[in-house]
Amino acid sequence: MTKRNKFMTVQTIEKTDLFNPKTKAKVKADVILGDCLDVLKKLPANSVDLIVTSPPYADQRKSTYGGIGPDKYVEWFSSISEELLRVLHPKGTFVLNIKEKVVNGERHTYVMELVIEMRKQGWLWTEEFIWHKKNCFPGKWPNRFRDSWERLLQFNKQKDFNMYQDEVRVPMGDWAKTRLKNLSETDKRRDNSKVGSGFGKNVSKWVGRDLAYPTNVLVMATESSNKNHSAVFPRELPSWFIKLFTKPGDVVLDPFLGSGTTSVAAFLLDRNSIGIEVKEEYHKLAIENINKHTT
Ligand SMILES: C[S@@+](CC[C@H](N)C(=O)[O-])C[C@H]1O[C@@H](n2cnc3c(N)ncnc32)[C@H](O)[C@@H]1O
Repeated sequence: MTKRNKFMTVQTIEKTDLFNPKTKAKVKADVILGDCLDVLKKLPANSVDLIVTSPPYADQRKSTYGGIGPDKYVEWFSSISEELLRVLHPKGTFVLNIKEKVVNGERHTYVMELVIEMRKQGWLWTEEFIWHKKNCFPGKWPNRFRDSWERLLQFNKQKDFNMYQDEVRVPMGDWAKTRLKNLSETDKRRDNSKVGSGFGKNVSKWVGRDLAYPTNVLVMATESSNKNHSAVFPRELPSWFIKLFTKPGDVVLDPFLGSGTTSVAAFLLDRNSIGIEVKEEYHKLAIENINKHTT
């Protein structure tokens, strides 16, 4: 179904049980062509369960899709984050994939300034995950090493948000055979975190278990197969957050959809999605990429 109005094309793809015969889930994916600031203003308040996105990085990809200068980044993004705050459900989560650019030999501070600005808007900066890119290309620079990680900043509207931790458990692995075999006295009682996170652990309760909760470091390869968009993230990345923060049938939003990775991930996990992309060629590409999974 295609609807048009003055600034956007809404392509709605509705699917039933083509990919998940077990659940027979009917999933909706809205792929919207337009500037996300305009489109977000039309979305109802509190209507989205998870936002996962990778906005254009400051200036970096100017030749490809128009970057924003590092000094203007906070001003530009904060008008968007204000709308994101409005559309997110009170128990929802916003995951922002971002990394500061090097300007004149220094890391620019726009990411840090953005966090401070967003806190003023009312966001809670709940957590920071690291995406460690395990297949980063070799390289040498005179004053720094290869950059093989990016930030995934987690923001919430309130402390009590939906989180389904069991959905992202990982095999306990060799840890169970080595470290858990030789427990110290500290390991056997609640040991409060030294970084003041408010968490405590009693390691001994994990003895004999097969699955553990992951850390906040996500080790994933970068996407190298998608030739039609220069800044694609691996599907594994949004999938991980979709499993952690939503249930089937929930709504996932990516306001900078690019090639459609978040919508494909949501679709394959039986979540509804809204994707917004300003460039016609990427909007088309996103629809093609979603369609690949629906036939
Ligand atoms: C870093 S890319 C996202 C890539 C995406 N995660 C993927 O896996 O393909 C950012 C995208 O945001 C789009 N974009 C830039 N400004 C936008 C705006 N104001 N509204 C909507 N999309 C925008 C760009 O055209 C680009 O495709």
